[in-house]
Amino acid sequence: MKVGFIQFNPVFGDVKRNLERSIELIREGADADLLVLPELCTSGYLFTDKKELQKLSEKVPTGPSTKAWIDVARETNTYIVAGICEKVSETDFYNSAVLIGPDGFIDVYRKIHLFNNEKNFFKAGTGPFKIYDLGPAKIGIMVCFDWYFPEMARILALHGADIICHPANLVLPFSQKTMLARSIENRIFTITANRVGSDIRLNTKLTFTGQSQITSPKMAVLAQASEVEEVVKFVTIDPTLARNKMVTANNHAFLDRRVELYAPLLKKDIKKS
Ligand code: ACM
Repeated sequence: MKVGFIQFNPVFGDVKRNLERSIELIREGADADLLVLPELCTSGYLFTDKKELQKLSEKVPTGPSTKAWIDVARETNTYIVAGICEKVSETDFYNSAVLIGPDGFIDVYRKIHLFNNEKNFFKAGTGPFKIYDLGPAKIGIMVCFDWYFPEMARILALHGADIICHPANLVLPFSQKTMLARSIENRIFTITANRVGSDIRLNTKLTFTGQSQITSPKMAVLAQASEVEEVVKFVTIDPTLARNKMVTANNHAFLDRRVELYAPLLKKDIKKS
């Protein structure tokens, strides 16, 4: 199976241009079976008020970006995971990722762990965590800051994900390394599609850290982009390698878990220090 990412530099507010650029790059990667695109890749990231969301968001799957991606997925025979600003009403928006296949729209994932000021603009997704069987591989989806919560990747892996698709707009330099940990501890592949460039709005500038990557169940980086380039990269993988959870002859990544000791993970209370 050929899986990859598209790293590019969306221009804030120019949905038409960003959509066209994403389609150009999807066509460039047409030999891949699965391509992951960045978070919010049609709208840009740094919103300053909710009116902008009304303007730059779209219904899923009936909006123009999802429709155009459905057409290009059919044309290229590719599965696409792409970040989009989703409108459910004139007041409610999600930071979402659509999953589209050669036969059309499959589902939308709504980001569960919102980062920083996203909380002022988006509603948080409510789950549940889902797995999609694409045939050669089962995939799960996380969006950007979801990486900070290892529980999420773990649950997706426990549900059978061979690959975690991870659209991102990373501004901190930590996630790329952390996703290697998500790969080794769960014995899965991950594909992080980050964006490059900056959003400059009012007095704020956010620069995105690129370095999109594909990681393996043995913690190898199979492909990585630079911090600045616009690029499509894909590699051939054997997704079934993610189904071997043996760490040593005597250790199984999942069966060795001591769940009887993990009860605090299911409580929100934290001990105040
Ligand atoms: C992020 O979640 N976009 C940092």
